[in-house]
Amino acid sequence: MKNDNENMLHRSGEADFGRRRFLSRVGMAAGALIAVAMGLPVIGYILKPSLPKMRRQWVPVGQINQFNIGDTVFVSFTNPSATAWAGVTGKTGAWVRRVADSDFIAFVINCSHEGCPVRWEASTKMFFCPCHGSVYYEDGVVAAGPAPIALQRFKVRVRGGQVELQTRPIPIT
Ligand code: FES
Repeated sequence: MKNDNENMLHRSGEADFGRRRFLSRVGMAAGALIAVAMGLPVIGYILKPSLPKMRRQWVPVGQINQFNIGDTVFVSFTNPSATAWAGVTGKTGAWVRRVADSDFIAFVINCSHEGCPVRWEASTKMFFCPCHGSVYYEDGVVAAGPAPIALQRFKVRVRGGQVELQTRPIPIT
């Protein structure tokens, strides 16, 4: 009887030791995961200068005869700086106005406040932001609202009858 009790105590001690070892390993694994997660931004900061810079690129947005002089129209295109897995979020757009025969101006669609897409209203000749009420004149200058600066512009050129915008990383304000 005494031997049975000793055996049971011995086995229970072994089980305790095994459980403690298991929990200790789980704790160490969780600690290592947290350390890696916290270290990633630092690694990104250190590696960033060696990563290739996002290049500016000309993208076609339509034939010149699709644009009427004086009209401001929306064009959409795929942002060349978007990552391969961006999917539909890599799509962006611009407001393009044909000023004269081969003279165009183009505005980014993102409000300079927090980036919401602005809408051109032909009847008032102004851009409106639906998020916090910013309003821009037809030249992109701020007319009202919290927007800190004018709408950004794309460089525009006409090549072989095709209107092209020079894309760039979208500024984060
Ligand atoms: S994002 Fe346009 S007003 Fe705030």
